[in-house]
Amino acid sequence: MRELLKCLDKFHKQHHEIATLIHDLEDISGDCLDYNLVDKAIEELFSYVKEHFRYEEQIMLKFNYPNIKQHLAQHNEFIETVDKLCFGSPEVISDPVTGLIRYCRAWSKMHVESEDGKLDQFIVDQIHSAVTKRS
Ligand SMILES: [Fe+2]
Ligand SMILES: [Fe+2]
Repeated sequence: MRELLKCLDKFHKQHHEIATLIHDLEDISGDCLDYNLVDKAIEELFSYVKEHFRYEEQIMLKFNYPNIKQHLAQHNEFIETVDKLCFGSPEVISDPVTGLIRYCRAWSKMHVESEDGKLDQFIVDQIHSAVTKRS
């Protein structure tokens, strides 16, 4: 049960960190004078998001999470879209960084509220059943 509580805690901290990294990217790109800094902030955000996805996916597998397919499909769709926004042709959108930030913000809000919310609930249910079994 303690392992499950740690999962919930780590999920929430990672979601908070992702929101902070999106905010940092927005701040840095606001001045848009140093493209190296913008690029570094993008790299930092996406390597952290990928690390977070790996962690969630590892937990879903470990606890036989029933909605894993749907959840993974959303993670993959995010990675594919971000790759397109980062490496696709620049004329696709007039301001690629703003487009990227807008997409990340909308996607993470939708995903955290829907799929991550369901995963949270699943873990909470596992905790309850572990506690019930003991009593
Ligand atoms: Fe997720
Ligand atoms: Fe998540």
